[in-house]
Formats: sequence, structure tokens, C-alpha cells
Amino acid sequence: MSIIKIADIAHVRFTAPDLAEMANFLEEFGLRSEVGDDGVLYARGAGTAPFLHATSEGPSGFAGLGLRADSVDDLERLAGAEGVAVEDFAAPGGGKVVRLRDPDGRLVEALAGQAPVEPLALEPDAVRNTASSYERKRTAVRLSSGPSTVVRLGHAVLNVSDFRVVEAWYKERFGLITSDEIEAAPGFAIGAFLRCDRGDTPTDHHTLFLLQAPTGPGFNHAAFEVANVDDLMRGHTHLKNAGRKAAWGVGRHILGSQVFDYWKDPWGHELEHWTDGDLFTAADGSGKSTFQELLGVQWGPPHPMMTAQEAG
Ligand SMILES: [Fe+2]
Repeated sequence: MSIIKIADIAHVRFTAPDLAEMANFLEEFGLRSEVGDDGVLYARGAGTAPFLHATSEGPSGFAGLGLRADSVDDLERLAGAEGVAVEDFAAPGGGKVVRLRDPDGRLVEALAGQAPVEPLALEPDAVRNTASSYERKRTAVRLSSGPSTVVRLGHAVLNVSDFRVVEAWYKERFGLITSDEIEAAPGFAIGAFLRCDRGDTPTDHHTLFLLQAPTGPGFNHAAFEVANVDDLMRGHTHLKNAGRKAAWGVGRHILGSQVFDYWKDPWGHELEHWTDGDLFTAADGSGKSTFQELLGVQWGPPHPMMTAQEAG
């Protein structure tokens, strides 16, 4: 039994030397940001989370992640087990926080009691025609141009020093379930997609993905759910026209099944737009997959690492 079971990922934190430049990028990426009284740039999406992405001024880097707990009681239990205090969370939405460091030294903020914000209205999903079902008749598709509509943060991917050690640390504290374990060779796991244990309630295929990368521990990427496929493609065009750096996409993953599009922020941190991902319950079990499936696509360009391997 884990100490608590988290409900979702809440936010990711970065440091960057130029908050105005980060704000410009985030706007083009589809987040709305403003600098708080504490000097931190907080960015929200269209959903109810007060912020999804926070940047403090400093040399560029990844600065930690937030996980959403069900209750302050859960935070008390976590704090008790860890021998730390439950503190007030001085960030948009307030609430309480337990601050921990994972085995690689990353800041992990477990939150509860954060006040939600009013969600922003989404454009209604376009009715689609397919060759087997003509649902849209006598109306045209007319999409506005602009950034994607980021709704929520979906997952973070962390490169870790020792997969089994870091996996155990997160699972023991937060009740995560393996969706797909990645094996470099049969019986030799190097990473796993982990989902929240929400019982019978379907939840994202992965909220956290831990990968023992040859590059050593570090930040891999953070992934933000956008409104739908049209919205993702609209955002792709917008970022491309703005001269931003594309990293991988557009494609459809095998593991998690989502349509993805990866971009780099001005300092090279990778952020993903995604939509139409798998949702599983606790009873849906765990799978084992290969590195090829991890980097493979159902359609779209292969991962740049695969292309480099093929090129020799
Ligand atoms: Fe991702």
C-alpha cells in the first residue's frame, strides 16, 4: 500500500533568465501567463488549475513538479511518513503543500486544497465527416488561426539515474500503477509509463514516465493536453510561423495512443501538445513494451533518435 494515491499532476516548474521571453513563448504555445507578487511567472490553461507552468528567474533549468493529492488529510499522512511539515502553498490557488525531494534530488510538491479557477470556454468541437459517417451537412468548417488551446497538464517525463529506485520512490508515496514498462532486453526494464490509481474512474495512460536515460538524470518533457486534433494542428502552424523550434511531430504514439507534437522553449526544454490519449482504470493492468514501441509511431515521423540510428 502506498502512503497516498495522487489524483493527477498539477504543475511543472522551471527557471529561466528572461521571464518576458518565457511569457512570449508560453503565449504562442497556448498558455496565459502573468508574473505573481512573488516575482514568479505563472501560466494557466483553459482548465480549472490556477497554474500549470511556473518560471522563476535564474539560470535556465527544470525546477520540479507538482502532484495533486485528494485532501489535506492525505498531505498530513504523507508529511507524517516523511517527517516533514505540511506548509501553506504560496502560489496561485493557495492550499497546502508537502515538499519532498525524489532520489535524484528533484523538488516534488504534493498539493491539496488549491482553489480552482473558472475554466475558459472552449470552442465547440467541429462535427466531422468521415467516409463511413457524414455527420456534417450543409455547414462549412471555419477554424480561427492562433495558438493551441492548452487545457491542462497531462504528464511529465523524467530521466532518472536508477529506474527501479526512482520508480519505487514514486510508487510507495503516490500509489502510481504501471501502464507500460519499457524493456531494453527481455527482463531488463529501463523505464515505465505510470498512471494514477483512481479505481474505476478512467485516467490518463500516464501521468509520469520515468526513463533511465544514457544521458543521466534530468528533465525530458512536460505534456499539455489541447482541445482536439484541429486545435493541435492549428497550434503547430502558429508555433512554426512564430519561428519556434519543433522537436518531434505531428504523429500518433503507440504507447498512450495520443496525437503528439513536441516543441522546445527558448532554452531547449521540451514541451508537448497532445490530444486523444488512452484512459484506463486501475483494473486495466500493466503491459511490457520495447524501446522501439516507445519511440515508434502509428503515423507521423519517427523519433529523431530512430532517424539518427538508421542514418548510422
Ligand atoms: Fe509525452
